[in-house]
Amino acid sequence: AESELQLVARRIRSFPDFPIPGVLFRDISPVLKDPDSFRACISLLASHLKKTHGGKIDYIAGLDSRGFLFGPSLAQELGVGCVLIRKQGKLPGPTVSASYTLEYGKAELEIQRDALEPGQKVVVVDDLLATGGTMRTACELLGQLQAEVLECVSLVELTSLKGREKLGTVPFFSLLQYE
Ligand code: PRP
Ligand code: MG
Repeated sequence: AESELQLVARRIRSFPDFPIPGVLFRDISPVLKDPDSFRACISLLASHLKKTHGGKIDYIAGLDSRGFLFGPSLAQELGVGCVLIRKQGKLPGPTVSASYTLEYGKAELEIQRDALEPGQKVVVVDDLLATGGTMRTACELLGQLQAEVLECVSLVELTSLKGREKLGTVPFFSLLQYE
């Protein structure tokens, strides 16, 4: 039988030169389309986090927008809630923000000030780690709220871009690694 990891891996598609020349786009849409693949993906991430942190996780933080596809399901599986880190201008009420440079383009992330209390323990989830700019900015935001980032996780890691080095001492875990 196929392993859970194979169920995920066979549903990642690659598109050369998207969205700009020279970028090989890893598309996670087929994982969402295949319920067995999606279930395997959530199960693998949740098992890793249960093993590593036990019941210490207070919240999952999902990153706008493709991290939102996995955050709430992962949180449910762990029996915790999910908070949203959004691109600039989407969140009402008092927010904190931080800007970053992307693999292609530039952006700003925000979180609502009352999303987390100081000292709460959070795991950040996104679909993919490239340069690590997005994930690092998310960690900075959570730091502004004095939340503790236990770990960052993603389905896909583009290892040649060395994104995990940007995260400093924060542990990082990915299901699948590509060059
Ligand atoms: C993509 C991807 C990650 C980020 C990775 O998101 O979903 O969030 O880039 O790149 P980095 O490690 O170099 O920061 P994107 O900003 O394209 O937007 P989306 O999730 O809203 O599609
Ligand atoms: Mg994204």
